[in-house]
Amino acid sequence: MGWTLAITGKGGVGKTTLAALAVRWLGENGREPVLAVDADPNTCLDALLGVKAACTVGGVREEAKQFVQGGMSGGISKQELLDLKIQEALVEGEDFDLIAMGRPEGPGCYCYANNVLRGVLARIAKHYPAVVIDNEAGLENLSRRTVQNVDWLVFVTDPSARGLTTARRLFDLAQEMEISASAMGIVVNRMRSLEALERAQTLFRDTPVHVLGGLPEDDEFAGHDATGKTIFTLPENNAVARASAEIFAAISEPMTAALVACDERNGTRHGVR
Ligand SMILES: Nc1ncnc2c1ncn2[C@@H]1O[C@H](COP(=O)(O)OP(=O)(O)O)[C@@H](O)[C@H]1O
Ligand SMILES: [Mg+2]
Repeated sequence: MGWTLAITGKGGVGKTTLAALAVRWLGENGREPVLAVDADPNTCLDALLGVKAACTVGGVREEAKQFVQGGMSGGISKQELLDLKIQEALVEGEDFDLIAMGRPEGPGCYCYANNVLRGVLARIAKHYPAVVIDNEAGLENLSRRTVQNVDWLVFVTDPSARGLTTARRLFDLAQEMEISASAMGIVVNRMRSLEALERAQTLFRDTPVHVLGGLPEDDEFAGHDATGKTIFTLPENNAVARASAEIFAAISEPMTAALVACDERNGTRHGVR
């Protein structure tokens, strides 16, 4: 699997924003084609990337089941059919492909969605130099095995004290669920002052989570998004684009370099558990 970034955090904090910015940055920095995985059923990653997800892996699976049950398999195995359908579910952008996971089967059951996600990642992600996974709020859909090969699991939070505490709780939960990634980081979005970064550093001091930096609260970005424009038309010198570019540059480097850069910037040393 290529270099993989999984993004998580509570609802509305900027996960999809960061995912789209990552897809753009990676594409512009020699990692194309990027595989964008939309693992949030209520999302708009496709719109932000300027494409339309035609069908989802969840829907594909239903279709494949009906196809086989209807005796129309014509000698194709269910797995082959699923593979074919997954290829159909891939939407091509300029420097990226997008795959949307869709809804899990039963209410509240993510087991199947996770299995499919894992299968998809194993099968297709290896063809891409970089993979970005935009996850649903919370951790319910992140099984340990879904993210086992992830290079970076990044928590996004708003700058409020409550938001930061929630992010910390999410990290603790991830530990309990034995969700593992080669490295973990936190990005504070919609920052109005540097205070939130300091608070994040204090809150995550006893963890291996890197405080990667903050993205400013930005009217230009909000306006751009509100008018339905894609991430690719956001000016390169936009404050959010620039701040995120710094973060992506740090984390897409080899671990050691990223660690040093991050620790230097934060003025802290992160113990590895
Ligand atoms: N740094 C920012 N400045 C201004 N608005 C932002 C910023 N980051 C995100 N937003 C806005 O916040 C809303 C939620 O962002 P989104 O990325 O969809 O969150 P999530 O995926 O976590 O639910 C969107 O309308 C987005 O335009
Ligand atoms: Mg989202």
